Amino acid sequence: MNDLAGKHLVLGLSGGIACYKAAELCRALVKAGATVQVVMTDAACQFITPVTMQALSGRPVFSSQWDPRDAAGVGNNMAHINLSRDADAIVVAPASADFMSKLLHGGADDLLSLMCLARPLDTVPLIVAPAMNREMWANPATQRNVGQLKADGIHVLAVGQGDQACGEVGDGRMLEADELLAELVAFFQPKVLAGHHVLVSAGPTYEAIDPVRGITNLSSGKMGFAIARAAREAGADVTLVAGPVALPTPHGVRRVDVKSAQNMKLALDEIALSATVFISAAAVADWRPAAPATHKIKKDGSGDVPALTFVENPDILAGIAASERARQGMLYCVGFAAESHDLLTHAQAKRARKGVPLLVGNIGPATFGHDDNALLLVDEHGSRELPRASKLVLARQLVAEIAAKLAN
Ligand code: C5P
Repeated sequence: MNDLAGKHLVLGLSGGIACYKAAELCRALVKAGATVQVVMTDAACQFITPVTMQALSGRPVFSSQWDPRDAAGVGNNMAHINLSRDADAIVVAPASADFMSKLLHGGADDLLSLMCLARPLDTVPLIVAPAMNREMWANPATQRNVGQLKADGIHVLAVGQGDQACGEVGDGRMLEADELLAELVAFFQPKVLAGHHVLVSAGPTYEAIDPVRGITNLSSGKMGFAIARAAREAGADVTLVAGPVALPTPHGVRRVDVKSAQNMKLALDEIALSATVFISAAAVADWRPAAPATHKIKKDGSGDVPALTFVENPDILAGIAASERARQGMLYCVGFAAESHDLLTHAQAKRARKGVPLLVGNIGPATFGHDDNALLLVDEHGSRELPRASKLVLARQLVAEIAAKLAN
């Protein structure tokens, strides 16, 4: 996906073993459509060579304020000014403890810190991805610096947790390249859902027949996962309740895994008590076996087949849409309809039956398992088509639509 098309980023590397991840990040940024200008400190050059970063970014790397090369065709030999002027953001990854302390004090004795100090505050945001040993990260000096950098308007990303190069385990690792990419893509999305807690359900449910067999459906969960990601990008706090799917959790999203419709209802009912938006994208099984067997049902050779009887599952969405919070306007509910034909008629009927202000229709066989989809939004005023596009693009459009409705 060309999520960063048209963006120009300055990628700064300060010294730390996480420099190896910056190589992967650089490649990911370029693949996402950004142009990347790399600036490295001398310490960074101890960990990874400018040759590597030049090959990955496709541009000469700068590392000295005395570099006589002309960075921007301006001819004034001032790389610390020229490199940042047309940037959409400066991203320092890794940002070492030392580099953050330098930023904090306005230090400027190397090209990267000099360039950060000289950036136009109103137009060139500075994003830093800390990377250090857990004791360094936990040290009050570092935490004080992080607090002050944030107060100064610098975007300090979270750190990862786990094994560290030094052999210790804890907080302070730099985020992985794919996580940093997700953060940067999100950074440029409008924060239309800031302050909201968005609850999303996704995927199929699994209704057990016995301990080894069950009934499920072809929902892949991709649409719901894309919505969770888009809501997170839009600045919301997001909880994703997922049926059995093998999709990775979108960065920054809280995930609760469930199996059956009853499990899903328990989780959703509870979380809906604190949510402000509920988007019900899960394909909840309509029925479940009335009495799942405790032991595996055995084939006995007689040719007899087990008789299965079903009971209807509770309608989770209709229940939440009828809750006190939803009726008082504190929880905005959005339903989905996967149909095979007559989408508008079915979606309108379903909107009324579920009691939701917005119903999103799609054609089941055209969405289940696919990476793209087409949506039909049905509300009290009528309907609007969102033409075929990737699920993430559609999810961002849906999030924008919901935000506009909430703002009214
Ligand atoms: O009734 P139908 O399954 O077509 O409705 C689809 C919508 O209702 C989806 O938003 C789905 O998540 C939700 N649903 C539910 N509980 C059910 C069945 C569907 O919340 N038992």
